[in-house]
Amino acid sequence: MCGIVGYIGSREAFPIIINGLKRLEYRGYDSSGIALFGQNLSHKKTKGKVKDLESLFEEDSTKKGHIGLGHTRWATHGVPNDVNAHPHLSNSGNLVMVHNGIIENYDTIKKTLVDRGYTFYSDTDTEVLVNLIEDVMKKEDVGLGKAVQIALNQVVGAYAIVVFDKQNPNEIVMARLGSPLAIGLGENEYFIASDATPFIEFTKNAMYLEDEQMAIIGLHKEPEIRNIKDDSLIAPYIQELQLTLDQIEKGGYEHFMLKEIYEQPNVINDTMRGRVLPEKNIIKLSGIDNYLSKFLQANRIIMIGAGTSWHAGLVGEYLFEELARIPVEVEYSSEFRYRNPIINENDIVMPISQSGETADTLAAIKLAKQHKAFIYAICNVVGSSIPRESDSGTYTHAGPEIGVASTKAFTTQVTVMAMMALKLAKEKGHISTASYNLYLSELAMIPKKMLKTLEADLYIQQIAHYYKDAANFLYLGRGFNFPVALEGALKLKEISYIHAEGYPAAEMKHGPIALIDENMPVVVVATKKGQYEKIISNIQEIKSRKGRIIAIVTEGDTQVKSIADHVIEIPETLEAFSPLLATIPLQLLSYYIAVYRGCDVDQPRNLAKSVTVE
Ligand code: AGP
Repeated sequence: MCGIVGYIGSREAFPIIINGLKRLEYRGYDSSGIALFGQNLSHKKTKGKVKDLESLFEEDSTKKGHIGLGHTRWATHGVPNDVNAHPHLSNSGNLVMVHNGIIENYDTIKKTLVDRGYTFYSDTDTEVLVNLIEDVMKKEDVGLGKAVQIALNQVVGAYAIVVFDKQNPNEIVMARLGSPLAIGLGENEYFIASDATPFIEFTKNAMYLEDEQMAIIGLHKEPEIRNIKDDSLIAPYIQELQLTLDQIEKGGYEHFMLKEIYEQPNVINDTMRGRVLPEKNIIKLSGIDNYLSKFLQANRIIMIGAGTSWHAGLVGEYLFEELARIPVEVEYSSEFRYRNPIINENDIVMPISQSGETADTLAAIKLAKQHKAFIYAICNVVGSSIPRESDSGTYTHAGPEIGVASTKAFTTQVTVMAMMALKLAKEKGHISTASYNLYLSELAMIPKKMLKTLEADLYIQQIAHYYKDAANFLYLGRGFNFPVALEGALKLKEISYIHAEGYPAAEMKHGPIALIDENMPVVVVATKKGQYEKIISNIQEIKSRKGRIIAIVTEGDTQVKSIADHVIEIPETLEAFSPLLATIPLQLLSYYIAVYRGCDVDQPRNLAKSVTVE
């Protein structure tokens, strides 16, 4: 995610844009920039926070202009630095553009433009798009609006773009496919932003572009809304916003954590975009392709991480060993770094981290590098310390995760490992083409099945209300869902402060069953394709000791339904992908219990979003 702010009207654009960017920093904060046009173009951008950008403009007397664009970046292509920050200019310097999203075919377009003599200064897909628009304007001899429409029909990917031509500063053009854009309407002035927070104090009249729509906005004339595909005119729908600033930042959700739970279908799509191509039956992961021999010859993979990322690694262990038949060990970074592990150059060490800044994981990488292991990182924050210390890797595209309790980071990490395991299974010949295609098409279905899973929200709220005063919880799972039990327990304890433990279900009789009585709610992941019969008998063992069961089951299940106290259904999927669905009810359950207990869900006591100290 990135934050976009634009303005055209009679006011000075700078204060509107810089303050708007501060409100959008929750959408991304690794670099930012502003371009204004008055007498001339004033354009500054920098790595770092919006306040660093503001200080760049402090002494700048040229920060004048009634049209301008601002951008706060969440890097997907190109590391965070000054040159990759937005806004980007076309080669002529006339077009100024900001972009939120991913252009999948940017490398093909870039090659064509280089052949036509264009020069590129950044590693971004955005700079390619702004020069494509310029190229269309020249070749077709059309205005900016028409050029944007033609160019976007050559693009594959997701975008929200805003662009203006300094040769015609009374017009600004925007378009969206997959990333949000809101337009605030004032008195002959317009505010454009990723959401309404930058302009809600100026106007409550807004229109939201829908996917495949673009707007051509000029002063002293009505806004033109068009369909990008066929250029047809669309009647604008203007609404009066009722939301407060705080509500808009959270997308109307009460907390960032709930917003991020609901973002999972979209961010899983973003993580698979351009990588999972079921129509071609391929998985494209450049990080693997560039080091395929390392993976094919590796003795083993050692996954290292902390907290939720360590749980993701445990799911990864099942995925890699089941599909790619590569031996995997999963280690807490904090333990690995101090126990003098036996590592050599035939090992692949795989750090998993949302923030890319966890001190123990970083230290573990450095130890592994001393023993010449190959380091392959799975990380969410582009350009953070862990990817920079690694030889290669794959980024999750979860976007900024603000809630301290990790949710979408976990499911996107598991998605990346599913893609990797499948790709390597195919390369190593451990999977038939038919089976590979089945897995691939099922993986592509996961976002839709996540949407279906989220429909249980209201029922989960009721269950949360029923159990909110419990003092202890037990979470049980088997196979792929044993790590899900651990993750569910972590979610509950870290935001509701209720003690919770996760266990492999078969471990019950080796001790924990002594804890069972009518005061002990037990959450059991009992999906159809797992060791189903075994888990049924575990449930019966608990019921016979008056334990109360909350079961996560495959939709249509009747057996568990006949013995459990509460049953939450999730869509059927392959067992290897069931953690992607089974985790969601557990995230919601912990969220609502924490809310009922009046806890600070987004900033739980004693916790930090990134543990950068040892
Ligand atoms: C998970 O909800 C916690 N916030 C915490 O366990 C977290 O997963 C852990 O600190 C690792 O962080 P990282 O993924 O940024 O390395």
